[in-house]
Amino acid sequence: MPDLVVTDIVKQYPTRAEPLSVLRGCSLNLSRGENLTILGPSGSGKSTLLQIIGTLDRPTAGKVLLDGADPFALDEPGLANFRNTRIGFVFQDHHLLPQCTVLENVLVPSLATGVTPQRVDMARKLLDRVGLSHRLEHRPSELSGGERQRAAIARALVAQPALLLADEPTGNLDRTNAQLIGDLLLELQREQNTMLIAVTHSAELAARFGRRLTIDDGRLIEA
Ligand SMILES: Nc1ncnc2c1ncn2[C@@H]1O[C@H](COP(=O)(O)OP(=O)(O)OP(=O)(O)O)[C@@H](O)[C@H]1O
Ligand SMILES: [Mg+2]
Repeated sequence: MPDLVVTDIVKQYPTRAEPLSVLRGCSLNLSRGENLTILGPSGSGKSTLLQIIGTLDRPTAGKVLLDGADPFALDEPGLANFRNTRIGFVFQDHHLLPQCTVLENVLVPSLATGVTPQRVDMARKLLDRVGLSHRLEHRPSELSGGERQRAAIARALVAQPALLLADEPTGNLDRTNAQLIGDLLLELQREQNTMLIAVTHSAELAARFGRRLTIDDGRLIEA
């Protein structure tokens, strides 16, 4: 069985008239070491699908299985722990805490489970890997946009998640930095042997993924 199995995800939002159907049955499989990108016009449901796969939002119907486990069968604390230990997120905005240093930011997701010496080691290694070893004690406001996004990538990977999700990770960057961040995401995904699902509007970045899926009328089709 693939490490990630997403089956027939439906998402409806209630409205005063009939419910708004954003996702009408989205399915995909992915295994460790693989990456794919989700394409589609604005409003087609890309972020909605990513949030559901990332367990940040519940589907109206359908199933997500990660390493054979069904996160939506868990209670809220169980779900939060599942997300915290198995899934890493990179967003369009870095979401770094302004009052914390770069190293502290990378360790924030580990607070719930414990900041062990091994975890600090991993944080330093990842920050070195993304080229920020000379910025450990800096605050986000002292970094460039590209550097902030590199810190966010280190933060997403520090718990060595099975699944890395990125929603328009290069959306706020200039072309050069967008390319660097795209490269870095794909390189780290391979090095860490994790799975990566990224949403992007960049055809250039999408071309470098193993698979491309488009959301069309609420369903996923091979692009
Ligand atoms: N909480 C909500 N309540 C009602 N409708 C919502 C809600 N969240 C999203 N939607 C609707 O769902 C649709 C899909 O939104 P989503 O953010 O997933 O699109 P997207 O493909 O990520 O677009 P973009 O490329 O602009 O980021 C949109 O029509 C949006 O208005
Ligand atoms: Mg979106």
